[in-house]
Amino acid sequence: PRKIIIDTDPGVDDVLAILLALASPELEVALITLVAGNTDVGHTHDNLLKMYYQLAREREQHPVAKERYPLANRTVVAVGADYPIRGEKHVATYFHGRDGLSNISVTHPEFTPPEGTEYPLELSNKHAYDEMLALLAAEPAGTVTIVALGPLTNLAHAYSADKETFCRVGEVVWMGGALDVPGNTSPVAEFNCFADPYAFDILRIAAKAGEFTFVFAPLDVTTHHTVPFSDLLHEGEGTTPLESFTTAFLHRVRGLQARFGLPDAMEMHDPVAVWYAIENAPKVVGKGWAVTGREFGIERCGEITRGMCVVDRRGSGEGDGKKRTEDEVLLKGDVPLSRKEHATATHL
Ligand code: BDR
Ligand code: CA
Repeated sequence: PRKIIIDTDPGVDDVLAILLALASPELEVALITLVAGNTDVGHTHDNLLKMYYQLAREREQHPVAKERYPLANRTVVAVGADYPIRGEKHVATYFHGRDGLSNISVTHPEFTPPEGTEYPLELSNKHAYDEMLALLAAEPAGTVTIVALGPLTNLAHAYSADKETFCRVGEVVWMGGALDVPGNTSPVAEFNCFADPYAFDILRIAAKAGEFTFVFAPLDVTTHHTVPFSDLLHEGEGTTPLESFTTAFLHRVRGLQARFGLPDAMEMHDPVAVWYAIENAPKVVGKGWAVTGREFGIERCGEITRGMCVVDRRGSGEGDGKKRTEDEVLLKGDVPLSRKEHATATHL
C-alpha cells in the first residue's frame, strides 16, 4: 500500500473519509494530523479518539473487521494548529455541531471513551507539522501523498518551516475551494478555503512555481458525489459499533439537509479526496478522472469575499499579452459506485 498522511478536522464527512482510507488496501494511513476547522482542534482530537474507540470495538467483536482495517493500528496521530495563519478563527459548528460531530458528546455519552482507554494508534507529542516533515524526510522522496481534508494551516506551517523536506511529498490532494459554483460558507467561499485563505495561497503559489504537485477537489466536483442517507444509517439488531457511531451523528445532518431543502443524501466532500488517492491518480486521469488547469486568485481578506477563488475568465491571455499559468484542479471525478458503497466503511 502507498503511505498517506491525512490532515483533517473531524467533522462528519472527515470521519467517513478517514474510515474509507483505513478500509482501503491500496493505502496505509501512516499519519493523521489534526487542524482546527469544523470545530476547534481539541474537539477534532476527541472525535478522532471516539472513532478509534469504536473501531477497536468493531475489530474485537467482528473478526472480519480485522481484515477490513488491517493496518489501522499503525497510525501516528499528531495535533496541529488551532488558529489560521492569519486573521480570525472560523468554525463550521452550525453544520457539524458544537463538538464537530453533531453534538453526540451530549446526546450520546456512550460514545465517549472511558478514562484509561487504550487506542490502536500512537499519539505523538510533537506538533502536526513536525510529524509531517519527519515522515516526509524518512520516506523515499515522492512516495508519500498528503490528503488534506480541512483548512491548509498545518501544511502551510510545514512548508514554511522546511520547504525542501515538504517538497519531497509525492502529491498533495485537497478538498477545498469553489470555482464555478456558489460557496457553502458564504455566497462565494467554500469552508476550507474560507477558514484559512492565507494557507491555501502560500501552497498554491509554491505548487504553481513547480515545487510540488497540488491537486484539489473543489465543491464543483464534490457536491455531486452523494450517498443516500438510507444507505448510511443503520439501526436495530446486528448494528455494529462503527455503524451505531456513524448513524448517531448522521441523523442530525440528515435533519439539516431536509431543513435546507436539500436531497436526502450525504454530500461526500472529503471522501472524494480519499477516493482520488485510492485510485492512484494521476495514473487514472483520463479513466473517469480529469485534472484540469484553471487560472484564479484567492481573496484572503475581502469584506464579503474572503476565501473566494477569483477565476480569470478572460480567456487565454493572448489578447492582453499577459501569459497566464494555471493551477491544477480536479474538475471531473467519476467515482465508481462500488467506491461510494465502500465509503460507508461500516458494512460488514
Ligand atoms: C468542507 O468543509 C467542511 O465542513 C467539510 O468537512 C469539508 O472538508 C466542505 O466544504
Ligand atoms: Ca473536513
